[in-house]
Amino acid sequence: MSATLNSTEPATGALLWEGSSGDVAEEVARARAGWPRWAAQPIAVRIETLRRFVNVIRAHEDSLVDLIARETGKPLWDARGEVASVMAKVDISVTAYSERTGQKRLDAAMGARQSLRHKPHGVMAVLGPYNFPAHLPNGHIVPALLAGNAIVFKPSEKTPAVGEMLVRFYHEAGVPTDAIRLLLGGAEEGKALAAHPDVNGILFTGSAQTGIAINRQFAAQPGKILALEMGGNNPVIVWDTPEIANAAALVVQSAFMSSGQRCTAASRLIVRDSLADVVIAEVKKIADRLIIDHPHADPTPYMGPVIDNEAADGLTESFLYLMSHGGRPIKHMVRPVKDRPFLTPAIIDVTAMEERPDVELFGPLLQVIRVPDFPAAIAEANNSRYGLSAALIGGSPDHYNQFWSNIRAGIINWNRPTNGASSSAPFGGVGISGNHRPSAYYAADYCAYPVVSAEIEQPRASIGVGLKDIDTSAMGD
Ligand code: NAD
Ligand code: SIN
Repeated sequence: MSATLNSTEPATGALLWEGSSGDVAEEVARARAGWPRWAAQPIAVRIETLRRFVNVIRAHEDSLVDLIARETGKPLWDARGEVASVMAKVDISVTAYSERTGQKRLDAAMGARQSLRHKPHGVMAVLGPYNFPAHLPNGHIVPALLAGNAIVFKPSEKTPAVGEMLVRFYHEAGVPTDAIRLLLGGAEEGKALAAHPDVNGILFTGSAQTGIAINRQFAAQPGKILALEMGGNNPVIVWDTPEIANAAALVVQSAFMSSGQRCTAASRLIVRDSLADVVIAEVKKIADRLIIDHPHADPTPYMGPVIDNEAADGLTESFLYLMSHGGRPIKHMVRPVKDRPFLTPAIIDVTAMEERPDVELFGPLLQVIRVPDFPAAIAEANNSRYGLSAALIGGSPDHYNQFWSNIRAGIINWNRPTNGASSSAPFGGVGISGNHRPSAYYAADYCAYPVVSAEIEQPRASIGVGLKDIDTSAMGD
């Protein structure tokens, strides 16, 4: 039986969208039926169709920006950046498709040719998160469609309206209605979709907790492709630098952009003891000035609310937990609007805590750890099961070499924030941040599998060894 779903604007509590959960079996059956036709289209047709998708988005750009801002609470400028990434994805994916999954002729024995080609997997389930409800699912969908797969897309239950609009735009561009299906619903529908026997692959972006559950579900099914893009507990180290104001701005950008709801957000600031007071004071000074408001507010806010009251309650509790276990508050987490999930950016010094929880705190909460020397900074940065993104701010080229060589993460930056990753590069983490199937530019790799064929037009063969002589005595009888 289908359940009623609704979506409210985090900033105002206004009802934005109403609908009901979908039927997993029906959506998978439609995609399965639509797949052979889409896969049989020449690649030029699939490219052309996806280029039309960009034109459709461009024609409706303001509506999509507005809907993302309303449904997630992120400021308009942030939502506009997300839509720009959605549009840029098509050209990037076309280049990646031909570079990473193109065709090749290789020499083979006895004058045969050997061809390398790639085939789509079939029906792919795409499970999306709420923080980038258009860009991140689109980052799986576009390369998967290009490669000739059919898709069943389940957006986050927190952002169904954006998911629905995105699928409408693929269809409007000419992607056949059976080549991409929308499945609305929550964890139950996600679980049932991933478990469906007619689904060949699961392309997931979300929390490590869910990703690990999906990984466990498929332990005995190596034949299904799983691409798991998960969370982070990302460190930013500030080391010797005279550029304190710039360093602090990079820390604020890393920790608080999108209200800290980026998988690459910095949640741990690791700083040399002797520099700590001045750096922390500067970070606090900027954080105190950040405008936190409704996405459409004037003056333009830096941050909106977090996604919902449950997330805001969880983050507030986490801040209190850190405080009551030895953390020293530098900037308190405050809920400035009653009953709405706005949070002020919070900073807490957790150096004295005996055991720091290694969890992703997905919001504007920055923990500070003071260290005496650079090896201690690196050890502290690696003191996590996650390994998505890490940045060094300041330090010498030698410090950066040590940092780059020793840090376990898929994104390692110098004097740049931990977030703002480019779609033109591979994107993924190690540890519990991913399963070694990076997305973005390398998404092409998990959307198709290589097939090698030795080929010659006539059968020609002879067996040169290990044969008995022909028995001629029996001949002529
Ligand atoms: P989530 O894990 O709660 O949900 C993600 C999706 O999985 C949703 O569509 C949800 O309905 C579905 N789902 C939930 N339980 C499921 C189950 N058992 N089986 C199948 N599907 C299930 O994530 P979220 O809270 O929506 O998103 C925030 C998280 O996403 C953060 O942890 C963030 O770091 C991470 N994230 C990662 C990346 C990346 O590329 N590495 C990017 C953005 C966000
Ligand atoms: C994310 O995907 O959550 C963040 C991407 C980025 O800003 O690096």
